[in-house]
Amino acid sequence: MSGLITDEKIFELLQNVYQRTGFDYRDYATLSIKRRIQDAMDIERIKSLDDMSQHIFKSDAAMKKFILTLSVPTTTLFRDPEVYNCIRNKVLPRLSNTSIRIWSTGCSSGEEPYSLSITTKEEGLAKYTRIYATDLNESSIETAKKGIFKLSIMQEYTSNYHLAGGAFDFSDYYTSGYGWAKFHDDIKENLVFSQHNLVTDSSFNEFNLILCRNVMIYFNKDLQDKVHALLFQSLAPGGYLVLGDKENIRFTPFENAYKAVSPILKIYQKME
Ligand SMILES: C[S@@+](CC[C@H](N)C(=O)[O-])C[C@H]1O[C@@H](n2cnc3c(N)ncnc32)[C@H](O)[C@@H]1O
Repeated sequence: MSGLITDEKIFELLQNVYQRTGFDYRDYATLSIKRRIQDAMDIERIKSLDDMSQHIFKSDAAMKKFILTLSVPTTTLFRDPEVYNCIRNKVLPRLSNTSIRIWSTGCSSGEEPYSLSITTKEEGLAKYTRIYATDLNESSIETAKKGIFKLSIMQEYTSNYHLAGGAFDFSDYYTSGYGWAKFHDDIKENLVFSQHNLVTDSSFNEFNLILCRNVMIYFNKDLQDKVHALLFQSLAPGGYLVLGDKENIRFTPFENAYKAVSPILKIYQKME
């Protein structure tokens, strides 16, 4: 990053982005946001932050592309399979079998909610389960809704599915052709996709299980605490919270409001 790109200039840019679009990146972790702004500049072959600023405010398309670069969409099917194994064997059996509401926050292109849908189906809970899958990024949500993934990705993550406790033929869940794979409708029918910004939007339901994985890692401490408050408020008493590998409930104001189901896998239960 050029020496001329100061934290103040970055804040000013993020402030303008917020005022123009409502997307609030001002409290994202400084180093990570700097890296991603630099990535966006490299993609556009733009050398200065002022030129970048001019570029993104020139058109909606440029702004959309910039926001997409800021929002790290990396994800996989059955990411960290042992987490899904624990959800399957320790969390789902403890949930009511009349109504289960799950929230996959920051779901990116949908690999997380599709993995949850398959897991709940295999555990015989599909009938009672609704999985709300949200992300800040509209184009990720549009991709997720389609349930179409590269066939090579499906094949690559078949081993994740088995490590996550899946005992069937993973390819039975999709139809493939021309290098693409489409999940069958019964995998999609419990999924509700919509845009939701954890920073600016409020709670919209009471959930039995919330996954907020690999999202808060990009936030500064104040923003993490704010999002933890939203997640806490959105969980039913006795509901479960699953964080990402590098995220933690410790050192947040909610540390004592949960008991650990698996501290290593970052799975917690809200006290009743
Ligand atoms: C690295 S991906 C994680 C995807 C998935 N949860 C996983 O663990 O594989 C982070 C996602 O968080 C989303 N995100 C970032 N800031 C957000 C916010 N304020 N509200 C909702 N989603 C956000 C990004 O758009 C991106 O899709």
